[in-house]
Amino acid sequence: MRHDEQVRLIKQLLAHLDAGTNVDAGGIRRLSTQTYTDPDQAERERRQFFRGLPQCVGMSGDLAEPGAFLTNNDLGIPILAARANDGAFLAFVNSCRHRGAVVETEERGSKRRFTCPFHAWSYDTSGALVGLPKPDHFGDVDTECLGLKPLPAEERHGLLFVHPDPEGVIDLDDLLGEWFNDEFPTWNFDTMIPINHDAYDTPCNWKLAMDTFGETYHFASLHKNTLIETFHGNVQCYDDDADVGGHSHRMILCRRDIDQMRHLPEDQWDITVAGLPVYWIFPNVILMPFRAGAFLVRAYPAEGDPGRHVSRVDFYMKGELANAKGVQAQEIQEMIATIAQNFADIIRDEDYVMSSSQQTAANAGALDHIIFGRNEPALHHYHATFASKLGLEMPELLEGSASQPNRRHL
Ligand code: FES
Ligand SMILES: [Fe+2]
Repeated sequence: MRHDEQVRLIKQLLAHLDAGTNVDAGGIRRLSTQTYTDPDQAERERRQFFRGLPQCVGMSGDLAEPGAFLTNNDLGIPILAARANDGAFLAFVNSCRHRGAVVETEERGSKRRFTCPFHAWSYDTSGALVGLPKPDHFGDVDTECLGLKPLPAEERHGLLFVHPDPEGVIDLDDLLGEWFNDEFPTWNFDTMIPINHDAYDTPCNWKLAMDTFGETYHFASLHKNTLIETFHGNVQCYDDDADVGGHSHRMILCRRDIDQMRHLPEDQWDITVAGLPVYWIFPNVILMPFRAGAFLVRAYPAEGDPGRHVSRVDFYMKGELANAKGVQAQEIQEMIATIAQNFADIIRDEDYVMSSSQQTAANAGALDHIIFGRNEPALHHYHATFASKLGLEMPELLEGSASQPNRRHL
């Protein structure tokens, strides 16, 4: 993030802290609980948002070496992504050209050849069919035409994108917008190294999982024994690019260490000391860079069940930290990994417990609608964005319905 933007945001956070205010979405918004339960909407979301758009499947560090691969089965089509020998990032439909079995069954690893477990046809890292047993018995086939089916793939700013439709087009200028395309290079995501991958299969709609990241109003209650020690609750910065037709948005959470800025000249201010940036990449990615690395959270709807999803919570460490040698470096690495694991556990054991409880009530039809406060602008933004893109009725904004324009932080 450019330094002048860091200073602007830190000033905004300090002003909120000092005045006892928070961001203001301009009103309260009502959202139909059907958005979490309606099978038709769930199917449209899967088709339009998950099969019809490029998807982030990880970071460059996941495929550090030629032969490194990862698989993804979250999008309704088996995907194999790999680093080819020439360093290119490639993706394929993970289905054997013989009789269609899934070729690579491991989640990640490194191989020179991908060999189908059924009859042992094998493919190289560029997807070419390079061997089949008993070719003289099998018959004459043009192996040149029987490589793994390619999927559009692009690597940008250290993030890996795959389009799950072989005919799809990846347009990262549109997906990330000018704003994120300008800001992401400053984080050097391409140098980060994967440390941990968690997957939480959770009985809640994928948007309920995303919702938990959308405000800090809940920190003093839900995270009263955990995050509130590090963060101020109910104070944040919020920006989106809706004014230029974009769908991106970014929150800055407020760390208690922000007080250090009060004693430092502005040119030494650091947003990763004062806060935690939270980038929302449309439709299902939350990317949080911090001092030692970054968290990448992706929420995927379960096929055929609007009340279920899988969240993938991945932690990456800055390369210079992860690669440092020596006893002290190892201690630091272990400490950071523990902090990261604790954060992932909080998501699972605190946030997603609430998401599941909300889903239980939504499934029961307990309420027709829920409400988002003025201090929850990210939730207003993305639910309105989804509704607009799906051609659904917009969640209703109740102008001036709150007696206080700004809520007090705790
Ligand atoms: S289905 Fe893969 S080798 Fe036969
Ligand atoms: Fe939370």
